[in-house]
Amino acid sequence: MGVEVAVEGLTKSFGSQKIWQDVSLTLPRGEVSALLGPSGTGKSVFLKSLIGLLRPEEGSIVIDGTDILQCSSKELYEIRKLFGVLFQDGALFGSMNLYDNVAFPLREHTKKSESDIRKIVMEKLEITGLIGAEDKLPGEISGGMRKRAGLARALVLDPEIILVDEPDSGLDPVRTTYISQTLIDINAEIDATILIVSHNINLARTVPDNIGMLFRRHLVMFGPREVLLTSEEPVVKQFLNGTMIGPIGMSEEKDEATMAQEQAMVEAGHHAGGVDDVEGIVPQMRATPGKPERQAVARRQARVREIMHTLPPNAQEAIRESMVENPSDYATGSYDQGGYAYDEQDTQVIPAYRGAGDQNYEQG
Ligand SMILES: Nc1ncnc2c1ncn2[C@@H]1O[C@H](COP(=O)(O)OP(=O)(O)OP(=O)(O)O)[C@@H](O)[C@H]1O
Ligand SMILES: [Mg+2]
Repeated sequence: MGVEVAVEGLTKSFGSQKIWQDVSLTLPRGEVSALLGPSGTGKSVFLKSLIGLLRPEEGSIVIDGTDILQCSSKELYEIRKLFGVLFQDGALFGSMNLYDNVAFPLREHTKKSESDIRKIVMEKLEITGLIGAEDKLPGEISGGMRKRAGLARALVLDPEIILVDEPDSGLDPVRTTYISQTLIDINAEIDATILIVSHNINLARTVPDNIGMLFRRHLVMFGPREVLLTSEEPVVKQFLNGTMIGPIGMSEEKDEATMAQEQAMVEAGHHAGGVDDVEGIVPQMRATPGKPERQAVARRQARVREIMHTLPPNAQEAIRESMVENPSDYATGSYDQGGYAYDEQDTQVIPAYRGAGDQNYEQG
């Protein structure tokens, strides 16, 4: 069963370079969350901070009641056993074949027999589509296969928290969907808390219960998927549609002149790229038929119902629509369909980008 990860006021710099500041979010127990953001915004740094590989200067990361920024190294070692992590580069041992790579955490952290280990390793290789490749060295397989082997290794200890850094990078679109389905199925089977770091718009739209976005050293938003997927916030909207029009540019800072020039080109008929006809909410992926129901679904509905009045009107409407379409998800408790006031003071979603000293991008 997954555990909650509560991050409060987290700030991380390397020397004089501030990566992000004052990041607060909670990964609810057993839910699937995704962290989005343009390249270089510090998503991987955030993920490494959660397992204590990097040390933010300020803030707290409370996991299972322990603040990993304050605890002893022995406590941190114990907390780390809760995690299964897929690093962005796969981080496989180059001199070990795939079988030994995937078996490594079991040999290191458990006293299981080799025959028990074999059962687990082969099962994880099967769900990641790697049967037949177990004798290959990482250098002998494709980038996508390395990625899947990294995921297989992240899963062998049945972790309570699973962090995956760009599970889709190097994968073709079909395998990306298979990996997405695998993550949902794993969540259904072991109720682990999952954080996926990704650039992939399809994955972001269909997999997570919650979505967050990093941009220009801040967490722009974090909240239920319906909030981000219906957001009018320019940076969120641009990212989810993958278009050139908006505050995100090729380099970190995009100035007003560039934005005006791009807008003029589009008005003159130039295609801004992206998929601008995808608006609003597409259905979330579900566990494969025959797998257990995701326990997180009912918990999340109860949680969302409680914060409903704090959510923006678009998100409230989307949630109400999905209640009509998937009544079984909302079967418990009565639900008032009446009007909800959007209370900005009380909101758990950070409604606006708070870019200190940033003139280029101001919430209107
Ligand atoms: N160990 C480190 N020492 C110094 N700077 C680092 C270190 N790790 C990351 N950085 C810097 O932190 C910034 C954020 O890097 P990070 O890898 O987290 O970005 P990202 O959002 O994961 O990008 P991408 O989507 O391309 O993977 C970058 O400017 C990077 O150079
Ligand atoms: Mg990264």
